[in-house]
Amino acid sequence: MPEIAVILPTLNERENLAPMIARIEAALAGIDWEAIVVDDDSPDGTADEARMLARTNRRVSVIHRVGRRGLASAVIEGVCATAAPVIAVMDADHQHDPALIPQMLEKLRVGEADLVVASRFAEGGSAQGLSSANRERGSRIANRLARMLTGVELTDPMSGYFVIGTERVRALAPRLSGIGFKILLDILSLSRGQLRVAEVPMQFGQRLAGESKLDRAVAFEFLAGLYERYFGRIIPTRFAMFATVGGAGVLVHLAVLSMLYPGMTATFWKAQAIATFSAMSFNFWLNNWLTYRDKRLRTLPAFVRGWALFCAACSVGALANVGLASLIEALVGHWLLAAIAGIVVGSVWNYALSNRFVWGR
Ligand code: GDD
Ligand code: MN
Repeated sequence: MPEIAVILPTLNERENLAPMIARIEAALAGIDWEAIVVDDDSPDGTADEARMLARTNRRVSVIHRVGRRGLASAVIEGVCATAAPVIAVMDADHQHDPALIPQMLEKLRVGEADLVVASRFAEGGSAQGLSSANRERGSRIANRLARMLTGVELTDPMSGYFVIGTERVRALAPRLSGIGFKILLDILSLSRGQLRVAEVPMQFGQRLAGESKLDRAVAFEFLAGLYERYFGRIIPTRFAMFATVGGAGVLVHLAVLSMLYPGMTATFWKAQAIATFSAMSFNFWLNNWLTYRDKRLRTLPAFVRGWALFCAACSVGALANVGLASLIEALVGHWLLAAIAGIVVGSVWNYALSNRFVWGR
């Protein structure tokens, strides 16, 4: 039985794979290892390449997933597929140097730690391989946020390179989120306080071939996931997003109004009507794109139908808003309180109706 399984999640890494296996082979000489490539049906034929390598190297095996996507879920699947007691999770694009594995494994072996993380931000490490200054800044912010919210004292809880006992991850598997890139962070926050953690500095290298898959959608899912875990029970994530979009809609409304009205190119009510419609349309588009990205209306008929329904839902919300605000104003005589109560109740109505009729199915 191999001592350690190297889990290599891949999405379009065909050219990187053979040299990667060769580097692992060289780094792990004297250790009994296996490598599990978990590929998400990459269009470039990474899985074929992996099978080809597996034919000549018995240490290599392949999980070829069809119809599923995600770095984190690929890692979980790889972990569940090995009999080795220890796993190393690393990127397949050469940004992680496999030469670190023996020293990471050693820390586990001597009982110094239960989890060893290769860190770009530990003393002696470097993040130079990050493709841009922006990306590096983003990475530091994500790390700081993650540390703040999880209370984990690690310099790089977002690292994609770590060594840990297989059973520890497998035990957490049902509760790990398969979404996005933040597998290590999830492991850390689910086993808070129960893992002794050590770090080794790493020089985060340049990608050999191909390009990064960490895009804006992954970054967004990361933030939404953090929100969900820590505030989701107080104000549901979707409602928080819906309300934020609504806030942006108010700005759109005011901007359109200020463009149309002061020049007297239109009477106030016309300008107000156009501004309202612009804001509703903007909100519909943004909600469809962000808040309901998992249920996005994509075809033209569905989109147009959803747009109309959304405007109808907003009208109901507006009626509730005006009605309640007028009532409170009449009873209590406090205009600001009345207006805020109207906005809150109107938004909840908007949300409930949109949720049910526009994106519900
Ligand atoms: N199976 C599978 N499915 N693999 C994936 C997927 C996916 O949806 N998305 C990415 N991968 C694989 C890539 O093929 C690569 O081997 C590894 O996961 C890392 O992906 P990259 O796209 O190279 O990520 P990166 O270099 O931008 O990000 C690195 O830094 C992040 C923190 O800044 C990685 O180390 C991340 O793990 C890390 O969180
Ligand atoms: Mn990479």
